Amino acid sequence: MSTPLSTAQIREKYLQFFESKGHLRLPSHSTVAPDPTTLFTVAGMQPFKEQFMGAPAVFDGVASKRVTTAQKCLRIGDIENVGRTLRHCSLLEMLGNFSFGDYFKREALTWAWEFLTSPEWMGLDASKLHATIYQDDEEAFAIWTQEIGLPPERILRFGADENFWPADAPKEGPNGPCGPCSEIFYDRGPQYGHDTWAAYAETRESARFLEIWNCVFPQYDRQEPLADGTPVLKDLPFKNIDTGMGLERIATVVQDVYDFYSNDVFAPIIARVAELSGQPYEGPQNVSHRVVAEHTRSVSMVIADGSVPSNTGRGYVVRKILRRASRHAYLLGLREPSLYKLVPLVVERMGDAYPELREHQAKIEATIRSEEERFLKTLEGGIQRLGGLLSGLQKGDVLSGDHAFVLYDTYGFPVDLTKEIAEEYGVTVDEAGYAESLENAQNIARAGSKYGKSELFGGSQEALDGLSPTEFVGYDDLQAEGQVLALVGAGERLDHLPAGSEATVILSRTPFYAEGGGEVGDTGRLEWEGGAGVVRDTRKTPQGVFLHDVLVEEGELREGTTVRGVVAGERQAIQRHHTATHLLHAALRAVLGSGVAQKGSLVAADRLRFDFSHGAALSADELAAVETLVSRWISANFAVSWQEMPIAQARAAGATALFGEKYGETVRVVSVEGDVAYAGQPVSSKELCGGAHVRRTGDIGAFVLLSDENVAAGVRRVEALAGEAATAWVRERLNAAAKVAGLLNTSPEGLEGRVTGLQTQLKAAEKEVAAVRRQLAEAQMGGGGAAAQTRERGGFQVAALKLAGIEGNELRAAADKLLDQSGADLVVVAGEKGLVVKATKAAVGRGAHAGQLIGKLAAAGGGKGGGRPDMAQAGITDADAALAALDGAF
Ligand code: ALA
Repeated sequence: MSTPLSTAQIREKYLQFFESKGHLRLPSHSTVAPDPTTLFTVAGMQPFKEQFMGAPAVFDGVASKRVTTAQKCLRIGDIENVGRTLRHCSLLEMLGNFSFGDYFKREALTWAWEFLTSPEWMGLDASKLHATIYQDDEEAFAIWTQEIGLPPERILRFGADENFWPADAPKEGPNGPCGPCSEIFYDRGPQYGHDTWAAYAETRESARFLEIWNCVFPQYDRQEPLADGTPVLKDLPFKNIDTGMGLERIATVVQDVYDFYSNDVFAPIIARVAELSGQPYEGPQNVSHRVVAEHTRSVSMVIADGSVPSNTGRGYVVRKILRRASRHAYLLGLREPSLYKLVPLVVERMGDAYPELREHQAKIEATIRSEEERFLKTLEGGIQRLGGLLSGLQKGDVLSGDHAFVLYDTYGFPVDLTKEIAEEYGVTVDEAGYAESLENAQNIARAGSKYGKSELFGGSQEALDGLSPTEFVGYDDLQAEGQVLALVGAGERLDHLPAGSEATVILSRTPFYAEGGGEVGDTGRLEWEGGAGVVRDTRKTPQGVFLHDVLVEEGELREGTTVRGVVAGERQAIQRHHTATHLLHAALRAVLGSGVAQKGSLVAADRLRFDFSHGAALSADELAAVETLVSRWISANFAVSWQEMPIAQARAAGATALFGEKYGETVRVVSVEGDVAYAGQPVSSKELCGGAHVRRTGDIGAFVLLSDENVAAGVRRVEALAGEAATAWVRERLNAAAKVAGLLNTSPEGLEGRVTGLQTQLKAAEKEVAAVRRQLAEAQMGGGGAAAQTRERGGFQVAALKLAGIEGNELRAAADKLLDQSGADLVVVAGEKGLVVKATKAAVGRGAHAGQLIGKLAAAGGGKGGGRPDMAQAGITDADAALAALDGAF
C-alpha cells in the first residue's frame, strides 16, 4: 500500500475483521458511563458487564454472543500527565472484541495475532511482537508458543498488578467481572531506546516496547473480601473475552510515527494550535500544544454526548479539562478564546465515526467559547488577587503553597502562571506546599472507582443528605417563589455565593423542570432582593431533590433567602416538542405497526429526537403519512390534559408505558383529548410521562419530520421540528433551493432536470479526457513500447518508462499495455506523482516481487509504496530519482 492506513481505516478494518469472525458490530456507547461505578465510560467492556455476568446477550432484538465495538473512553485519573508525556490521552478509542460465554483464549489470541500480522489486515512484522501473560497462565503460554509460534523468550509473566484486569482486582476491587489478561507489545526499534525485552521485566516502562492490545479473560466475579482480607473470586456462569486495543496506539505503530500526537488525527490539530498561537510545534518540549489539542478533542466529545461544564459531577470534570486547556492556551500567549476554533478540525477528523460531533458542532463551539470567555475573566481576577498578595511581599520572599492553591482552586488560576508572575517580583512559590494542598483536595474529590486507576468524582451526594424532595410547580407556573435550602460547590456545602461564583442551588419550591424522560432541564433566572443569577441547567437526584446550576450575577445569594425563579421562554418551545413527540410516537405505531417501541428520546427547545425499534428504513410514503397524522392533530387543536392516577388505572385506560422503565405506584398520564383517523381506524395519544406539555395541540403550530437513520441493529432514529423551529427550517431549505436554482439558471422545479443534464455532460467530458490521456500515453510509449528502456536486472527483462501528464487509472493502463507489448518480465512506469510496477505471472513464479521492488524505488523517489507480487503502486515526488534507483534495486 502506498500510504499507511489512516486512523479511520484502521478502526474500520478492525471492526470488519471481527465481523468476518461472526461478531455483531455495535455503535460506541456514550462517554457518559452506563453504570454508576465511574462518571465516564472508561473501557470497551463497560456497557457489557451484565452480559459477562450472565444476562442474555441480546442487543436491540439481535442475539449475539460475539460483539465488536470501537468505544470512546474518557480516562481522567492521570490527566495531569496528558501532554507532558507523548503517550497519554484523556480521550481514547478502544477497539474491542467480546465473547459472552462463547469463544475463549485460543480464538482471542490467534485472532489478535492474525489481525496484527496478516498482510490483508495490519501487516505488522511478526518478529516485532511480544506478549505478557498472568504468572501461572499456562494455557495462554501454550497457545502463544505452540499454536501461534511466539518464541518463549518473547513472553514475560507478571502478577495481578500488570496481568489482571481491572489491575489488582482480586485484592482491591472493584467488584464484578474480572480475570487474568495477556497483553501484546510491539517493538518499535532501537531508535526509541536501547532497552531490551528482558529488561522490561524489571523496568515495566519503555518507549520502545509499546503495549498495543490487552486481551482479558474475564472468568471471575470479584466479591467483597473476607474479614481477614482474603480475596473472594467466584466463577462467573461462563468464561468470557474482553479485549481492548488503543486506536491511538495501533495507529502510532502502523503509521510508524514517533508518538500519539504525530498521527493523522492529532498532527493537523497541533499544526492549527501552532498557527493560532504563532508558536511553532517543535516536538516533545511543547507540552502546551499537546494539552490544548488533546483536551479540546476530549471535551468536544463529552459535550457532544450531552455533558456541559458545571461545578458538580461530570460537568465539574468537563470544566477542569477545559480550564487546563485554557491555561495552556494562555501560556502559549493566546489572550482571546481560541480552543473553540479547533472544534471544526476535531469534527473533520472524527465526525465520520462519531456523527454526534457533527450534529452538535455549533453547541460544542458555543459551550467551549463561553467557558473560555469566563475563564479568561477569572484569570484577570486572579492576576489582581495575586498582584495584591505580591505587593505585600519583599524580593526573596516565598508565596505560601496555600495561597497558590487558593488562587488555583477559587480563581482557576494556574500555578505555572503564579510562578511566572511571582518571579517578576523576585518571589518564589512554595511548590511542595502547593502540591500538598492540591493532593488533599484531590483525595476529597476522588471516588471509589478502580477502573482505569482513579476516576474523579465531583459528586455532591453527601452535601445533599437530609434534604427533602423539592416541590415542583412548573407544569402550570413558569414563575414561582421558593426558599434557598442549600448551596453546594465542588462537593461542599456553602453558606453564601458571592457575585461571579457558580454553584448548585437547592430550593424548597421550583418552577424549573429537571432533566428527565428525555426532556432537557430548564434554564432561566433567579431573582431576589438585592441580587440576581442565571439558571444554566436543572437536574434532580433520584430522591427528587432539584439541583439548579446557578451563576450569581449580582449581589450575593445566602441560604434561607427567598428567591423568584423565572423559567426562560425556551420552555414553550420545549413543550411544543414534547407534545409533538407523543403525537409522533402514536403516529409511528399507527403507520408502522404496534411493534414500534420507544427506545429513547430527546426533547429540546430546538428539536426533538426519537429512537424506536423498527427493522427497516422508512419509505417516503411512510414518512409522509406519519407527518400528516401529526399535522392533523395540530389542526384539530384538541386539548391536552394531565392527571395523576394509580398505575393500574393508567394501564386500564390504555396509556402507553415505556418497556423496562420503572414506575411508582402513582403515575402521571398525559392525554390528547381527541383522536385522528388512519386507514379508517382512530388513533389516540395517551402516555405515562412526567414531562411538560402544551395546553392544546394547536399550540404546536407546525411540524416537520426530518429523515430517519439507523442507530443500532433494529433501532431507527427520527428527528423532527415543531413550531418556529419547523417553519424556520422549511424557509431555510426553500431559500437554499432558490439559490442553487439561480446559480443553475433554472427554477427550483427545474432543478432535477438541470442536474441530471449536467451529470450526463460531466460523464461524457470525463470519458473524453480519459481517452485523450490514453492517446497521450500511447504516443509517449511508442509502438510496442519502443520508448521504454529495457535492460536486464537480476535475471529479469525490466522495461522502464516515464510519462508526462499521466496519473491514476491511465498510469495503470499504460503499465498493462507496456507489459503486454514489450515482452518484458517487469515494467516500471512513472508519472510525475505516481509509480506503477507490474510483473508477469511467469516472472512472479521466478521470484519477482513488484511490491518489494516498488518499496525501494518509491523510497528513492521521495514517497512510499507497496503491493502484491504482480502489481504495486506508490506515490512519489521525484520520478527521475525513482527510475534511477532501478539499477541498485536488484
Ligand atoms: N477492559 C480491558 C482494558 O480496558 C480490555 O484494558
